[in-house]
Amino acid sequence: MTASEDSVASALLAWYDRHARTLPWRSPPGAPPPDAYRVWLSEVMLQQTTTAAVAPYYRRFLERWPTVADLGAADEADVMAAWAGLGYYSRARNLIAAARAVVERGGFPDNEAGLRALPGVGAYIAAAVAAIAFEQRAVVVDANVERVVSRLFAIADPLPQARKAIRVRTDEITPAQRAGDFAQAMMDLGATICTPRQPRCLVCPVAGWCEARAEGEPERYPVKAAKKTKPMRTGSAFWIERGGHVWLIRREGRGMLGGMRALPGDGWSAAIDGSGDAPIAAEWTCVGTVRHGFTHFDLELTIRRASATQAPAVNGEWWPIDRLGEAGLPTLFAKAAARVLG
Ligand code: ADE
Repeated sequence: MTASEDSVASALLAWYDRHARTLPWRSPPGAPPPDAYRVWLSEVMLQQTTTAAVAPYYRRFLERWPTVADLGAADEADVMAAWAGLGYYSRARNLIAAARAVVERGGFPDNEAGLRALPGVGAYIAAAVAAIAFEQRAVVVDANVERVVSRLFAIADPLPQARKAIRVRTDEITPAQRAGDFAQAMMDLGATICTPRQPRCLVCPVAGWCEARAEGEPERYPVKAAKKTKPMRTGSAFWIERGGHVWLIRREGRGMLGGMRALPGDGWSAAIDGSGDAPIAAEWTCVGTVRHGFTHFDLELTIRRASATQAPAVNGEWWPIDRLGEAGLPTLFAKAAARVLG
């Protein structure tokens, strides 16, 4: 059986009407959509990040910056600090730039092409916002949709080459009406039923059309190219303490963790202070190591600690240790601080 637009979409939408997940950025199925600011903010946060991790951040952001105008007027450092822990910090830098661009033009563009022109908005977010907030027909493909569609049509090419075929097939089954609900239904199906392992085909509303199920081994899809092993990098971070305060820097530029508060380092990413040395001459004690996985490498960071009598030459500030939770440290440095304080 082939999955024609009507049949798959209507079975999926009927399932969504009964089983849609309740998520803080959503309207119930069939209800008027949330405003574009909410949809855009949630989709930016949800790229590469789970719904469970995003929910508390989303709520805090909306409480603090209820409209795109509020976010556009926000201090960049406050937004970066509020993003701390979500990862992929270029998203936060783009978020502020996009909010300012939206305010400047007097509102969100209401179509994919206009949305794509905003900083940090790629094909996926543009399609998701156009479909969910503006109820336009748009082809929305995220990792969940990739899995569902590659199974429905038993697409045997490995990712990432299969993306083109997946997109064509998703286009074929995307309905003219309720494209936003359809996209979110696909995501929910992928998150709750068509899971990477042990998909629950017995309760799947589109199992009757699923070619991978008919073949008998749905878990085989999507086929993935062999993973490259990630390189391991090493470096040091320096905990410099004086009178209940620790020396924090703000990382430079748009690179790795750029704009975020941090412990000074020895240049493991060549973007901190670049020196390769400790920022002050002192009696350093090794506290231990922390490991952290980034997209393209794993990092093993050795934490060194010393007391200081004067401020290091690198730009920074003395931060009260008992208020470190408010510094907005990214996870790597939060782990390092926990190592020192734990
Ligand atoms: N992941 C990305 N966008 C999502 C959405 N709108 N609903 C659920 N999961 C998502």
